[in-house]
Amino acid sequence: MKIITIANSKGGSGKTTTAFNLAHELAQLGKRVLAIDFDPQASLTHGFKIDLPQNQIYIEDLISKMGYGKLSIREAIVGVKEGIDLIPTTGGLGNLESELKGATGLIRLREVLKGLPAEAYDAVLIDPPGSSDIFMTMALVASQEVIIPTRPTDTDISTLTEFLPFVDEHRALNPTLKIGGILLNQTQASSKNAEFYLNKLVELGVGELIFKSSIRSAIDAANSMAYGKSSSEYKPKSPVTQDYKQFAQEVLTWL
Ligand SMILES: Nc1ncnc2c1ncn2[C@@H]1O[C@H](COP(=O)(O)OP(=O)(O)OP(=O)(O)O)[C@@H](O)[C@H]1O
Ligand SMILES: [Mg+2]
Repeated sequence: MKIITIANSKGGSGKTTTAFNLAHELAQLGKRVLAIDFDPQASLTHGFKIDLPQNQIYIEDLISKMGYGKLSIREAIVGVKEGIDLIPTTGGLGNLESELKGATGLIRLREVLKGLPAEAYDAVLIDPPGSSDIFMTMALVASQEVIIPTRPTDTDISTLTEFLPFVDEHRALNPTLKIGGILLNQTQASSKNAEFYLNKLVELGVGELIFKSSIRSAIDAANSMAYGKSSSEYKPKSPVTQDYKQFAQEVLTWL
């Protein structure tokens, strides 16, 4: 079981869309995936378009003082599709930030995940917010790999130069954490644009971290989630679907 966080401190870089599509593609490849929505915006939870029962247990229930050590992670898992389970969230997660700040709070997600038998899933995908260092830190402390979706723009690359050292700092708390890769997301058709930003990343010394695959900018990627569908369910033949499939093949080699 590989625990993977899809993270970037830059908002709107494509974390949730990437987590959603990667979950689907890995499931298509026969893998069992647990997606964890760790963002009070709850975009991933909404993306699956499922009806949750009144008494649903959410990720915040598992890590809050009330539930931590008392509830089992299994109680919060919902099956959404063949091969994909979800631990959902609500805006209520945001209320826990001050409670989780201390050292004993930051390890709670990691400890909760220890309740999963190793053979239960091939991949656990965590979708934290860009805006909260606390939830991001908790996700990084709990993970073995981090995937960093990055748009090919000057501001995104400049954020990345701060985000990479931020990730590295987490090795003090989690020595097993690896940067699995930087995923260029929303690339433009012009090869000049792609080349320009690839070269920039190479100049920054992170060329070897870039996934071979990239995800093009495509309306199908944005629209499909609005229907609760992955890009491949929504438009199986679209080029962006092929991008997600190639990317999933790269991640598959880690599992
Ligand atoms: N490859 C793509 N092509 C076109 N639009 C995309 C693509 N990937 C993501 N988007 C769109 O970009 C916006 C931001 O994506 P997303 O919500 O996945 O980012 P995020 O990093 O999770 O944001 P946040 O920081 O708010 O959590 C969304 O409107 C989404 O539909
Ligand atoms: Mg998001």
